[in-house]
This record gives sequence, structure tokens and C-alpha cells, in this order.
Amino acid sequence: MVERYVMSIDQGTNSTRCILFDHHGRLVSVAQREHQQYFPKPGWVEHDAVEIWRNLRRVVPEALSDVDVGAEEIAAIGMANQRETTVLWDRRTGAPLSRAIVWQDTRTAPLVEELRHQPGDEFFLERCCLPPSTYFSAPRIRWLFDHVNGLEQRAKDGEVLFGTMESWLIWNLTGGTDGGLHITDATNASRTMLMNIRTLTWDEELLAFFGIPRTMLPEIRSSAESYGEATSVLPGVRITAALGDQQAALFGQTCFSPGEAKCTYGTGSFLLLNTGTDVVRSRHGLLTTVAYKIGDQRPVYALEGSIAVTGSLVQWFRDRLGLISRAPEIETLARTVEDNGGCYIVPAFSGLFAPHWRSDARGVIVGLTSYITKGHLARAVLEATGWQTREVVDAMNADSSVALKQLKVDGGMTADNLLMQFVADVLDVPVVRPMVAETVSLGAAYAAGLAAGYWPDLEVLRRNWHMAAQWLPDMDPERRESEYDNWQRAVERSLGWIT
Ligand code: G3P
Repeated sequence: MVERYVMSIDQGTNSTRCILFDHHGRLVSVAQREHQQYFPKPGWVEHDAVEIWRNLRRVVPEALSDVDVGAEEIAAIGMANQRETTVLWDRRTGAPLSRAIVWQDTRTAPLVEELRHQPGDEFFLERCCLPPSTYFSAPRIRWLFDHVNGLEQRAKDGEVLFGTMESWLIWNLTGGTDGGLHITDATNASRTMLMNIRTLTWDEELLAFFGIPRTMLPEIRSSAESYGEATSVLPGVRITAALGDQQAALFGQTCFSPGEAKCTYGTGSFLLLNTGTDVVRSRHGLLTTVAYKIGDQRPVYALEGSIAVTGSLVQWFRDRLGLISRAPEIETLARTVEDNGGCYIVPAFSGLFAPHWRSDARGVIVGLTSYITKGHLARAVLEATGWQTREVVDAMNADSSVALKQLKVDGGMTADNLLMQFVADVLDVPVVRPMVAETVSLGAAYAAGLAAGYWPDLEVLRRNWHMAAQWLPDMDPERRESEYDNWQRAVERSLGWIT
């Protein structure tokens, strides 16, 4: 039987998807299941890792049976995942030791504030190129040690395993308690605050600082190589790639050369700029991260502007305020008015990430008058995504001293034309979207297919990229800058809310 497809698994913040791609990078089949979001306290966000594993076991056969494809037609499996979300589980039973603590969760804010003073930002920036933030995994492990009775000792005794979602799922896919592989890849490891960004190994000083025993950590592997067989779901098929979802999107957008950038608009939004094989340190609030490492080639790095809340603001508008019943309705509602009526929403639900890195920020709505309607609020919701993109692009331009000329975009929110036009307007550059908007899944498939010999090289992948839509800037420069000024004043008001 000819291997006709590559399977991609995208374990995201909201759902788990399985997609099959063909040689042209075309989407052949997709199956998806959402999992529950738990918000037990203000600022806390949790997932049930067992539910996610169960969803994965369902979507794989669903994607295959929808198009009547057998396992023998799958060349390889690639995995992309929500990053930083922390799972600890029992090595012997395979049971999670708590709910997974999600990347948006801010419970570690007090610890993070301490780290910023002692040992200070520089200690971390030198080693892992990340500023202390509630965003990353290591403070969460420390928090769990400090709050779950006996956990730290059990971890020291070798009974506990740590992983982000790809580690948890690959361990289960490759056999779980029956010899499952405990591995991660360099892109995911670069988000823990525990990996040395230059050597791509666990950093002894960081481990000692957080008091995290090495035995609980997965082995760091490259992003594309043959890891092992998915015995428990698809016997005979090998998993040959794993990348954090945002790095996968960079790969799926074929941003293989230094200077190429993409922004993925999902729950949050993440702008990554390929900076080549050198570690470039940001001076303007961006993260340095591993973009990908193919087999034993040198790693490729990226600068990243991470925005915590964009699509999840639309969800909040829908689910918590009930002002729309389906996410796409936000565009229709926003179009009922000409502009934002002077209203701005800064969605600092998880503090503010790039370029501010302020865990003491909380959301604000400013400029309210009795003139404001739900249409104006809808506009302010969409515009918040545009302005946050502008902030990270400004930081990126300042860091690289070469202005971005065009932005490749992808992700669910790119279906919103009003928003994409606004992004082009406030950035003052063209915004382009490829035919396959599922770039996270595509990137994981590309990396897996390269490692398995399904695709020969990066050039072939580049040729699969085709533009589907383009938005050109069309905003009066004076208006743009005065509204940006309003936005920045609104951001000022969100800072320091948590004292
Ligand atoms: O860093 C968090 C990011 O990986 C989450 O992405 O698309 O699952 O919200 P997404």
C-alpha cells in the first residue's frame, strides 16, 4: 500500500484535532473535539489531561474513517500542541496528579513577582531568554510542589513525570505505563524556563533554582526525527515530529528564512519572526524561542510576540456577556457602527504578555459614555487584537531594525474581514493569508513528513504555499496614530491593578 497521507495532531487550548494532509499540503480530512475549560478561581485556568487523551483517541479513527483511509496509508504522525500548559503524572499508574495548569493561568503571579526581584530578570534572560512570567511552566511546577502534599518528595523519589501536552500525549501514544516514551522537543522545552536556549539541554542552575529534580523531566529531542510508534492508537505508524503550535504555524507558513514572520490568531495571538541560527536577544519585550530543529541540523530561532487574549476575548463576549451567540457574529455586530465610539478594551485577563510582561495588569474598558452600544463594544473587542498586534510589531521592528514589509496570518480569527482590514490599517503593511489556513496542523505535518522522507526538502514545501486573501492598508495616518495613542493610554490604566 502506498503511503498517501501525513497525519497531524493539533492539541490546542480549546480542542484536539486530527487532520490528514496529502503531498500537496491539501487538507483531506479533519476530526475535532473540544474539551472543557475549568475556571475554578479568578485567574485560574485548568484542563483535564485524561479528557484530552480520550479526545485524541477518538479524533484519530474519526479522521481516518471519514475518508476511508487505513493506518497503512499514513506515512507519519506530527504533533503540535498548546505550549507551557503543565501536566504532572504518576509514572507507575499514568494518572495525572492534578488538573493540567493552562498557559493562561495566573496563580503563580506572587512567585513571579518575587523572581523579578530575586534573582532578577537577568538571571533568567541569560539562560533561557525568557522573562519571569506566569506564562511559563517552571513556576507552575514549583506552585504544585508548594501546594500538593508530598508531591515534591515523590518527584525527588522518581515517581512523578512532568510534561507539556505533547509529552503527555506521546507518552500515552507510545505505550504509557507499558514503556511509553518520555520526551519533548526543543521548541516546547524552550517555553519551560528550564532549558538553556543555546545548548538545548536542561539548565542545572535553573533546575536548582526552582528545586525541580531532573528525573521528572522529559528527554529533549529535535522537532523532526523518528521518535517511536503510536502503538496504542495507530500501531505500525511512527510519530516523527513535535512542535509547539506557534512554531508549527511558522513552519506551516514556510517562514524558513530569517526575516520571515507570521501571526496566528487563535485563543491568543502569536507573532513569530524567523531569526536564523543565531540567538537574538530582544531589547523590547519579545521572547527568544526555538523555532524548530530538524534532526541533527542546527536549531533555528525566532523572536516571538505573545499576546495572551485575542480570540478568547470574543469567546468571553459570547459566553460570559452573551452579546452574541456565535463567534463570527462579532463582525456583523461591529459593522452596525462606524467606529468604536471612543471605547477601548484592554483584555489583560492573564496580565499582559508581550511587550509589557506585567502580571499585575487586569482588563479595563475605557471611554464609556451613554452613547456606547454593543456594536461599539464589538468593535473595541476586535480592535484590541489589532492594537496588540501593532505593539508587538513595533517591538519587532525596533529589535530587528528592519521594518516588517508584510504579515502572513492564519488561525480562526482571520475569517473576520473587518479585523484583518483593521490589522493591515494599524500596521500599515499588507496582510496575507494562505489557502490552507490550518497552518499549525500543516506545520506539524510538514515536519513529520520531512523526517519520514514523504517530502524531500523545504523548497517543495515552499511551493505548496498559495495566497488566498490579501488586505491592503487604508487608514488615514493621523487617525491611526491618534487612536494608537488612545490605546496606549488605555493600557496604562490596566497596569498595576493587582497590588
Ligand atoms: O503559548 C500558548 C499557545 O501555544 C496556545 O495556542 O492556539 O492553543 O491557543 P492555542
